[in-house]
Amino acid sequence: MRMRNKNQKSSAFHCSAGTRCSVSLVLCLVACILMVHFYSLIHQNDKGEIHIDSSHLSVTRELEEEESLYLPRPRGKKSPRALKRRGPRKLPSMVNEFLDESSELHALFFPDRKSAIDPNKKGNDSRFYYPGRLWLDTEGNPIQAHGGGILFDERTETYYWYGENKDGPTYHAHQKAAARVDIIGVSCYSSKDLWEWTNEGIVLSGEGTNATHDLHVSNVLERPKVIYNDKSGQYVMWMHIDDANYTKASVGVAVSDSPTGPFSYLYRIRPHGFESRDMTIFKDDDGKAYLIYSSESNSELHIGPLIDDYLNVARVGRRILVGRHREAPALFKYEGTYYMITSGCTGWAPNRALVHAAESIMGPWETMGNPCVGGNKIFRSTTFFAQSTFVVPLPGLPGSFIFMADRWKPAELRDSRYVWLPLTVGGVADEPLEYNFGFPSWSRVSIYWHRRWRLPEEWRRTT
Ligand code: DGJ
Repeated sequence: MRMRNKNQKSSAFHCSAGTRCSVSLVLCLVACILMVHFYSLIHQNDKGEIHIDSSHLSVTRELEEEESLYLPRPRGKKSPRALKRRGPRKLPSMVNEFLDESSELHALFFPDRKSAIDPNKKGNDSRFYYPGRLWLDTEGNPIQAHGGGILFDERTETYYWYGENKDGPTYHAHQKAAARVDIIGVSCYSSKDLWEWTNEGIVLSGEGTNATHDLHVSNVLERPKVIYNDKSGQYVMWMHIDDANYTKASVGVAVSDSPTGPFSYLYRIRPHGFESRDMTIFKDDDGKAYLIYSSESNSELHIGPLIDDYLNVARVGRRILVGRHREAPALFKYEGTYYMITSGCTGWAPNRALVHAAESIMGPWETMGNPCVGGNKIFRSTTFFAQSTFVVPLPGLPGSFIFMADRWKPAELRDSRYVWLPLTVGGVADEPLEYNFGFPSWSRVSIYWHRRWRLPEEWRRTT
C-alpha cells in the first residue's frame, strides 16, 4: 500500500533556489488577482463583517424559533482578582459542568421525559425536531441508536437508522477507563419521513458467552454504518470494534440480505494494517464505497476504497488531516465536492467541529473552519454540546442536509441525546483554506442551531 508519509501541506512548497524569485513574483500577481476576485464575491458591510448570502437556505423556511439561550452562570463565584489572574472562565469548565449530573446546566441539556419528542402525540408539535430532547419511537420508548447513520433503501423506499443500543448500565471497567456500556448490539429503526421511527429491533447482537468473540459484551462496538451493495444484493455494516481499553482499535464487518437484519458478523480487521477507531463509510454516486477512520492514536484520518463486495478495504489508502487529531467523521457530497465534518478528540466531552472539503475523496482535504452557526459562542465551540456522526442528504432540497450528532451523557450513556440540525452548503467559505493560499474555492458549510425546527414539505421531492 502506498501511504504518504509527509503532511501534504509541507510537500506543496518544494522548489529550487534558482526559481524562487520568479515563483514569488508569479505568486504575488496571482494573489492580487485572487484578492480582487474574492472581494467581488463577498459583500462587506460598514463594520467590516462579511455578509454571507443566505438566499439558498430554503430549509430554514420551516424553522420556527431560534433558541433564546439562557445559560445559568457557572457555579462557584470567582473574585474579580481571581478572574484577572486566570482570565475569564474557560470553556472546558463549562463543558465539565455540562457533564456534571448534579449541575443546573446538565439538567438543561438533558430535559426529562415530559418534553420528549413523541410521534404518538399528534398536534402542533408533529414533525418538529427538538435537538437534545428525549426522542421516542412509535412504541413510546426512547430511541437507542447512538453513533448512528442512516441508509435510504431504494428497494423499500424506507429510511433505516442504525446505531449503538446503549440501554444498559454505565460503568468504568477500571479506574482510568472511559465510561462504557456493555455491547447490547446494533439497533435499527425504520421511517418514511425521517421523524417517526419504528423499532425494527437489534439487527446485530452482542455475544453473551464466548469471551473471545469481538462482540462479547465486555468489548466495544461503536458507530455502525450500513450501505447496500448493488452487485451482491447485500446490506453491509461496518463498525468500530474495540476492547474496553480501546487497544484493539479495529473495524468490524457484518452482512445481511435484508435492511432489518439479522446481520451476520464476519470479522474484524486493522485496515491497511493500521489502528482504526472512530470511522464511517461512504458510498459514492458511482457505487464505489470508502472507509474513513481515525488512526495513529487518533492523530490523523485514513481513507481508502472498499473492494467491490464492500467486505474489505482495497490495497490503496491515504493519510489525511495528518497531525490534526480528528475523530467522528461524517462525510457527504454536494455538486461533485466531498465534505466531511469531524470533531476533536476529547472522549465523551463535546468540542469544536471542523468541516473539511476535497475535490477527490482521496484528498488532499482542506480545512474550512467551524460550520456551527447561531446559538451562542459556547454552543458553537462545542458543536451544540454534541459530536458528529452522520449527514443525511435531502433529495428535494439540493444543498440542504440533516446533520446528525450525539449529545453524550457519560454519567448515564443510555440517556445520551440526538442533536439533528439543518446543514446547508452555499456561500463563501469564511476561513482561509490550507493549500490554496487563502482563496476559498469551495462553498461554506453551515450547521444552524435551532431549538425547534422541521423539514419543509418539498424535502422528499426528486426531480
Ligand atoms: C469519542 C468517540 O467519538 C466515541 O465514539 C467514543 O469512542 C468515545 N470517544 C469514548 O470515549
